[in-house]
Amino acid sequence: ERLPALLRLMPKAELHIHIEGSLEPELIFKLAQRNGVTLPYASVEALRAAYAFTDLQSFLDIYYAGASVLLKEADFFEMAWAYLERAAADNVVHAEIFFDPQTHTERGVPFETVILGLDHAVHRAHTELGVSARLILCFLRHLSEEDAFKTLEAALPWRHHFIGVGLDSSEMGFPPAKFERVFARARELGFHIVAHAGEEGPPAYITEALDLLHTERIDHGVRCLEDAGLVARLAASRMPLTVCPLSNLKLCVFKTLAEHNLPALLDVGLCAMVNSDDPAYFGGYLNQNFVETFAALPQLGARQAWQLAANSFEASFVSDEQKAHWL
Ligand code: HPA
Ligand code: ZN
Repeated sequence: ERLPALLRLMPKAELHIHIEGSLEPELIFKLAQRNGVTLPYASVEALRAAYAFTDLQSFLDIYYAGASVLLKEADFFEMAWAYLERAAADNVVHAEIFFDPQTHTERGVPFETVILGLDHAVHRAHTELGVSARLILCFLRHLSEEDAFKTLEAALPWRHHFIGVGLDSSEMGFPPAKFERVFARARELGFHIVAHAGEEGPPAYITEALDLLHTERIDHGVRCLEDAGLVARLAASRMPLTVCPLSNLKLCVFKTLAEHNLPALLDVGLCAMVNSDDPAYFGGYLNQNFVETFAALPQLGARQAWQLAANSFEASFVSDEQKAHWL
């Protein structure tokens, strides 16, 4: 078949990947042993068996437990390097990578340890893999505004090591409005702005993210189709939606991949693209997302493949010169 080969071989950018979500069970157990952390799972197989999610929260509980083995700079390096090697193998030429500092600082790991480990992998990926990568700091929306402000302040000595801020974790009941002032400060500081919205939450959360946080991309955003006025606005402004098909399947946002609304999002002219979200937990890295999604949706062909790759570069935070080179 020619379509899977095209999907695998085409150069692409990945814009929605949580680095903690790239932590494979094997590496979780290796780091647990190295760091003397006791896991509530007896084996790699027992941990993998727990990856049966019913919604976002059921995933997040296990995702935060997995991240508890990350203590040293070398751990963060090893996790990010493993992701970047897999990304390179999928012909990802550029990645904008989320990290969740509060998951680590809450456990007493210094911000510096997190950022220096990740930054080391980012630099090595450029020289050894030819992959350009950037970091985006995400605030956990189930924690307080004050905690987010403290995290931003603690990050400022390392402000040149990340290009933007985002918003993730439990969506329902934690609307973007809660973080309006934190994001205003981040914008003042010159950071790019993104936020998860419309994954499980209603279209109104997407509108809030646009109006109150002034986002430059919406992460997920698949529920936008429930609001025709919002769709028109997103299309007219070429607001990118970083769609994650296997994530949506595993977290039961859609019952099957065949029911995913990616073809509809493209048909109405939205700047959507494909991403892996948390590939170690959701059954595959970027090419797996492309291949399974296209296999399940016969409406998707070579034209849509090209469009999705082009959208990924258009939506990236690289210079116009770099975009012109890729597009
Ligand atoms: N949604 C919200 N928070 C997250 C996700 C997600 O898909 N992945 C990791 N943290
Ligand atoms: Zn996500």
